[in-house]
Formats: sequence, structure tokens, C-alpha cells
Amino acid sequence: MKRLMSALGWAVLPLCAAAAEVVEYPEGYRNWTHVKSMVIEQGHALYESFGGIHHIYANESALRGYRAGEFPDGSVLVFDLLEAQAEDHALVEGPRKVLGVMVKDRTRFAATGGWGFEGFAGGDPNQRVVADKAAEACFACHAQQRERDYVFSSWRD
Ligand code: HEC
Repeated sequence: MKRLMSALGWAVLPLCAAAAEVVEYPEGYRNWTHVKSMVIEQGHALYESFGGIHHIYANESALRGYRAGEFPDGSVLVFDLLEAQAEDHALVEGPRKVLGVMVKDRTRFAATGGWGFEGFAGGDPNQRVVADKAAEACFACHAQQRERDYVFSSWRD
């Protein structure tokens, strides 16, 4: 029995370790609550990475988090970045550049403030741009917001 357990243990462990760090694609997020939008133009410090028009969405748990000031496990926040195109004196949405996602799970993502970070290029669930680089690529900047549970945006009525 002991032999069997240890054999199973070795087989299962790597799978668990991999699954523990994966941020799921936020299926159905376009039906969640819209929090805010913003246009980042050329000349802004974050233009290189985040230039364009973005919309932020929150699932139900995250919505409670904005109101409480602390986000419960299961909260998911989405940063939907599209190109901004000037058209006839208006800025309109172009193709999707990247979908940024934050998932709250204090156990799985303890190393990055309890939040898992991922980016999906063009919004494609199969094109992950962050993977194991969340600490440098995302958390390094979000860490400034420690007092607000690592979230920048806030809820307005
Ligand atoms: C240089 C700083 C910086 C980096 C790096 C950064 N973010 Fe953000 N992020 C922001 C700011 C500022 C906002 C708020 C934007 C707004 O108010 O519209 C934000 C907002 C978000 C939100 C909405 C929740 C919130 O905090 O308001 C998500 C989701 C998000 N970012 C994901 C990511 C992911 C995933 C990465 C890594 C690929 C990343 N961010 C890297 C600065 C950064």
C-alpha cells in the first residue's frame, strides 16, 4: 500500500503543481458587470503595453470585492484591451489586442498577493502571454496597490 501511495504521489504531484498556477480563460466575461473604460493615448507612460481603449469587467464576487475593499476568493477581473482607431472625429474600437485577467485565490496564488495574472493575446484562450512570468510582468506594478488588495480601479455608482 505504501508503495502504491508513493507511486501515485509522484505521478499526481507534477499535474497538481501545473494546474495550481493556471489562470483560467474567463468564459462569458462579456456578460459580467462593466466597471469602467479608459483610452490610453500616445505619450502616456503605459502606451507601449496598454495603448488603446480598455474596458474592465468584474464577476459577482469581484463586484462584492470593490464594495468591501477586499476581494473574496473566486473574484475575477478582466482588462479587455482593444485598439483605438480615430474615425471621423471619434475614437472607435478596433481589434482586440490582449485580454488581461486577475483571479483571486489566496492558496494557489499566495506568492503574488493572492491574485493569479494572465494575458491572452488577441483574446485567444490558447495564446497565453504571461504564464510563469506573472510576478515580473504584472504583480511588480500591481503591488503598488497593496492597500487596495492590488486593484487599481474602483467602483462608481
Ligand atoms: C505598469 C503598471 C502595470 C502593469 C505592468 C500591469 N498593470 Fe494591470 N493595471 C494597471 C493600471 C494602472 C490599471 C487600472 C486601469 C484603469 O483604471 O482603467 C490596471 C488594471 C488591471 C486590471 C483590472 C483590475 C484593476 O486592477 O483595476 C486587470 C485585470 C489587470 N490590470 C491585469 C494585468 C495583467 C494580467 C498584467 C500583466 C500582463 C498587468 N495588469 C500588468 C497597471 C499595470
